[in-house]
Amino acid sequence: MYRFSSGHGGLQCESCHGATHAEYPTSHVNDNVLSNDVQGHAGTISECTACHITVPSTITGGPHGMHTTGNAWVSSHKSVVEGGGAAACSYCHGADYRGTALSQIKMNKTFIVEESSKTFTAGQNVGCYDCHNGPKGE
Ligand code: HEC
Ligand code: HEC
Ligand code: HEC
Ligand code: HEC
Repeated sequence: MYRFSSGHGGLQCESCHGATHAEYPTSHVNDNVLSNDVQGHAGTISECTACHITVPSTITGGPHGMHTTGNAWVSSHKSVVEGGGAAACSYCHGADYRGTALSQIKMNKTFIVEESSKTFTAGQNVGCYDCHNGPKGE
């Protein structure tokens, strides 16, 4: 029943998803207090800095195999894809690489993209076509 199961960092599922009978997101204002306090928005605890002082650098070591986030990843994912292909990315970013619920960004974020920048809004599913022409980059 996953009640006593653990995931990332040995944490129980409830640490990030909320109590078994009150899973995030929730319509009860008080159930959102913890999430809002540690990461600035309601819902599943998903921002690395909610628990880590700095965002750890990793390709698959985050919750559920998540990569690091932020500008460091924007400039380094190229070598990961060139080394192993984009197939591993489709698990969350979708078979068509246009984003799924598992690649949803949970708060507004702006990234440096070449000479410019790209802003995503909360609730947007990040895809490989958002910054360049698909999973091959270019
Ligand atoms: C360190 C935090 C963390 C832990 C611990 C964790 N998860 Fe998650 N989980 C997430 C994040 C972040 C997502 C993606 C955001 C979202 O959709 O809620 C997610 C997504 C999921 C999803 C996809 C559906 C959904 O809710 O979006 C399932 C199912 C899931 N987790 C189950 C579990 C189970 C079962 C455990 C315990 C064995 C667990 N998680 C432990 C953070 C965590
Ligand atoms: C709910 C709290 C929580 C969240 C959110 C979280 N982590 Fe962790 N993480 C932990 C804990 C606890 C450990 C285990 C620390 C230990 O064993 O000393 C850990 C360990 C790790 C490790 C292995 C040890 C290390 O520090 O190098 C990596 C890599 C990591 N986390 C990456 C991430 C990334 C990337 C994200 C965001 C996508 C993330 N974590 C989000 C709690 C969290
Ligand atoms: C376990 C699910 C998962 C996998 C696997 C995954 N991604 Fe992501 N990706 C996400 C999520 C969730 C976000 C939104 C993170 C956030 O809140 O910033 C994201 C965001 C991104 C971003 C925008 C930068 C950022 O920090 O948000 C890039 C670039 C990216 N992914 C590339 C890749 C590439 C390349 C691969 C394959 C090598 C990959 N992703 C595999 C879930 C995943
Ligand atoms: C937030 C914007 C952003 C998203 C989303 C994004 N990329 Fe990129 N991508 C970049 C930037 C910027 C570069 C150039 C990086 C550099 O050279 O420093 C790049 C380069 C690449 C390259 C190398 C292209 C070349 O010509 O050498 C590949 C391959 C690539 N990305 C794959 C992916 C895949 C796969 C995804 C989706 C899972 C993805 N990218 C999502 C911004 C993004």
